[in-house]
Amino acid sequence: MKRVVVQFGGTGDLALKKLYPAYEHLMEVGFEFTVIALGRRFPNRQEFLEAMVSPKASKQFLEHLEYLHYDMYAEEATKPLKSKIEAVIGGAKEVELIYYMALQPSLYEETIHQIQEVDSTLSCKCELTKKIVVEKPFGFDLESAERYNAILLQAFDDKEIYRIDHYLGKEFMQNLLILRFHNDIIRSIWDNRSIEAIQIIFDETHGVDQRLGFYEQIGVVRDTIQNHIMQIITYLTMSEPATLSPEDIAIEKVKVLRSIAPISEFYTGRYESLGANSGRIVETPTYAAFNLSVNTYYFAGVPIFVRTGKMQEEAKSLIYVKFRNTTGKVMHDETIGENGVIITIHPELTIDINMNLKQPNTSWKSKPVRFRFNQAETFGANTPEAYEQIVKKIFQGDKSLFPTMREISESWRIVTPMLAKDHHMEVYPVRTLPRFAQNMAAENGFTWFD
Ligand code: BG6
Repeated sequence: MKRVVVQFGGTGDLALKKLYPAYEHLMEVGFEFTVIALGRRFPNRQEFLEAMVSPKASKQFLEHLEYLHYDMYAEEATKPLKSKIEAVIGGAKEVELIYYMALQPSLYEETIHQIQEVDSTLSCKCELTKKIVVEKPFGFDLESAERYNAILLQAFDDKEIYRIDHYLGKEFMQNLLILRFHNDIIRSIWDNRSIEAIQIIFDETHGVDQRLGFYEQIGVVRDTIQNHIMQIITYLTMSEPATLSPEDIAIEKVKVLRSIAPISEFYTGRYESLGANSGRIVETPTYAAFNLSVNTYYFAGVPIFVRTGKMQEEAKSLIYVKFRNTTGKVMHDETIGENGVIITIHPELTIDINMNLKQPNTSWKSKPVRFRFNQAETFGANTPEAYEQIVKKIFQGDKSLFPTMREISESWRIVTPMLAKDHHMEVYPVRTLPRFAQNMAAENGFTWFD
């Protein structure tokens, strides 16, 4: 079978940093396919390769990487694309065409129309199957997401549509489900009877200036909260699925999302130098902190505090699950520490369980100690990159790592208040935590676990 990936946004940041390395590695491990990269930035393949592909790229990858200068606003834009696809297909008898849209949401609608046009006129004497892959954010808000989906459904079946959230391809995410549902000792303590609060911290050191064109229209809420953070929350709080099949997992995730009210307590900020290189002030949020709760029987009453964004002092991604400290009260001893589970994603993947154990040479004094699992030490450092896992699943037709449209719509509903333009935005100096994140902790009586 001949597999062809038609890469819209083929000269973009995502293709450069994540997709091409993933494609190259998948070819190395035996997957056979050709990529047609589409973009406006380079007039020809030579210039495209010089700018976008490492000089150390394998011969095999280079032989299967085509380029087409594609200006979607040009007259008859789809003609050269159709010819290119036909040329790559050649005389193959069985073909799988994968249209991969890695674009800003504002270009989706037009691109989908162009894909439909190409798709309906393509001439191939072959058995043709097709898939369409749409990068996050899927839409710009609830209304546009549903509109794009309706357009997609005119030309594709839902089972042919892959909506991406690369966090689902990450090892820590999949491990959350295994940790929770393959361990009885965890299962019985993972609810509001034992858990007091959860913190999710996703701080990044880099800014967005090199991808300002994309980011300034998007902002932190659309970039990571509507998708990555909401998906993390579902994995942390969903009930056990009947099986670990995509359908059964989706049922439980939707229940979680449906039980979250639109976020009302939230703060946003942008770092001071945002857009400095472009010489103008860009009013796009790059940091946010908020608080929500999942109103199911098992999680009602457990606040989930989230802070996430760019240009921080330290890159830090972690989830802290804080357990109630009933013991301290019962034993009348305030020095007894709290129990907690700490899932650290960055700088390295570890899972710690905080327990109190006896301090030697004391009379009944305890000391918090950490039981640590370290992914790289236990399983080696070669855990596949998220995008590699995601692309592999697309090839295999396995939808277990893709959010459903229902999840996406519910997530848009939840973040809708955070998209309001008239909301006050704090300007924070680079490498500092915005004041609102500190205040939120003080007002809610907790300390960020950092
Ligand atoms: C992407 C966002 O989806 O996720 C980026 O567009 C963000 O702004 C990135 O930096 C974080 O992903 P990762 O894999 O680096 O944790």
